[in-house]
Amino acid sequence: MASMYDDIESVLFTEEQIAEIVQNMGRQISKDYEGKNLVLVSVLKGSLMFMADLMRAITIPCSIDFLSVSSYGSGTVTSGEVRILKDLDGSLEGKDLLVVEDILDSGVTLSFLLKTLSARNPASVRLCTFLDKPERRRVDIHADYVGASVPDAFIVGYGLDYAEKYRNVPYVGVLKPEIYTHEEA
Ligand code: IMP
Ligand code: MG
Repeated sequence: MASMYDDIESVLFTEEQIAEIVQNMGRQISKDYEGKNLVLVSVLKGSLMFMADLMRAITIPCSIDFLSVSSYGSGTVTSGEVRILKDLDGSLEGKDLLVVEDILDSGVTLSFLLKTLSARNPASVRLCTFLDKPERRRVDIHADYVGASVPDAFIVGYGLDYAEKYRNVPYVGVLKPEIYTHEEA
């Protein structure tokens, strides 16, 4: 029987490597936000696993909130159009927001989000992304915390999907191009 793991061309980060990356990020964030009003803002759905692991690697008090945006449909290239599908529950006034993302690609989604969140009077807004794909950047944006850089390929696993599939793959890998190239033809 065909397995979803067969659609993955190569492994970029194993579960062990992911754990080490996230531990280091949590340690740094705990140091930097000591004494602050830290709120982790998870961008659904891709950052689900990263968020869950990162918050347990953070050793200072923090609260969490979730939002969901859409800009992709089922394609692999951003449409440039961003919509908030689910907004945050809490007020941001005086809070030190850390936006937690799965991957920074074109940067369109996050630059929209940072602008929107900054307008709500938080004490600070910074960005933490598990993966960074710098070659594909279309807007000038930089993340304050980056777990790892990845090549210009379509990445799945550890929360990252293609058409809502592969999020439950526990490692990070490159999706075989033949799985999605029919869409871009
Ligand atoms: P951006 O606006 O182009 O930076 O898109 C960011 C969002 O697109 C991420 O939060 C992901 O949900 C999605 N995305 C970008 N690249 C990939 C990828 O290689 N695999 C899976 N999702 C991706
Ligand atoms: Mg995402």
